[in-house]
Amino acid sequence: MISIRGMTKFYGSFEAVHDLNLEVRSGEVFGFLGPNGAGKTTTIRVLAGLLPPTEGQVVVAGKDVVKEPLMAKSATGFIPDTPFLFERLTGREFIRFSGRLYGMSAAELDREGERQLEFFELTEWANQLIEGYSHGMKKRLAMAASLLHSPEVIIVDEPMVGLDPLGARKVRNLFRQLAESGVTVFLTTHELSTAEAVCDRMAIIHHGRLAALGTVEELAARAMSPGSPLEEIFLRLTIEGAAHDHGMATNGVP
Ligand SMILES: Nc1ncnc2c1ncn2[C@@H]1O[C@H](COP(=O)(O)OP(=O)(O)OP(=O)(O)O)[C@@H](O)[C@H]1O
Ligand SMILES: [Mg+2]
Repeated sequence: MISIRGMTKFYGSFEAVHDLNLEVRSGEVFGFLGPNGAGKTTTIRVLAGLLPPTEGQVVVAGKDVVKEPLMAKSATGFIPDTPFLFERLTGREFIRFSGRLYGMSAAELDREGERQLEFFELTEWANQLIEGYSHGMKKRLAMAASLLHSPEVIIVDEPMVGLDPLGARKVRNLFRQLAESGVTVFLTTHELSTAEAVCDRMAIIHHGRLAALGTVEELAARAMSPGSPLEEIFLRLTIEGAAHDHGMATNGVP
């Protein structure tokens, strides 16, 4: 459902992502983890069709994001790390505006828009201007807007940032439910407990290069720390100077 082949991204002469190869299956929740500056948001923006890759091919829901950008985007729900919202609109106006961009009919919008507002507990605030929303409410509105058109693939950068514990739990459950209904979710997060709870598989990226890929158990085996929590595996695979050439770590983690 997502296929990244030989993807490299340069900003000027700086290589942010190097020769990335990943395949994400339909109905999978895939976690993309890595330290600050590793290249996660860069990869997410390429997947969402907002940044062209310097090299390589990226296919989302069977559509090449460079050659068929509109088709790829119409199959995708994208939730950026910092939501971009028109603050002088009300929540309901923003939902209607977003739905129309995806070509939804008024009837579909009435049904789906209200359903999403209700799910994200925004109905009570739907007629208030977005500028008065809290950080978490803005995040929930951005999620609601991105799910309106029933996308096959959801690409989400740091979904849990700004959500309270109940909101975060609801979103974790939502991702699992969507995956069970066949939707593919590609997410980045620094919350390793979230990754462990919702992701079927995950990749760890470090300095723009894939450091590990697999289930938690597979990553643990690769980090030679079977049974360790994901935090220890993550640190073993990403801490400076701790990895051998083949990506395994033996020291450097207390
Ligand atoms: N527009 C840009 N121009 C130049 N360099 C950039 C640009 N965007 C990102 N970078 C650089 O590319 C690298 C990867 O950045 P990216 O935002 O993808 O990291 P990230 O993994 O999302 O990090 P974080 O966990 O902090 O969100 C960083 O070194 C960053 O400084
Ligand atoms: Mg980022």
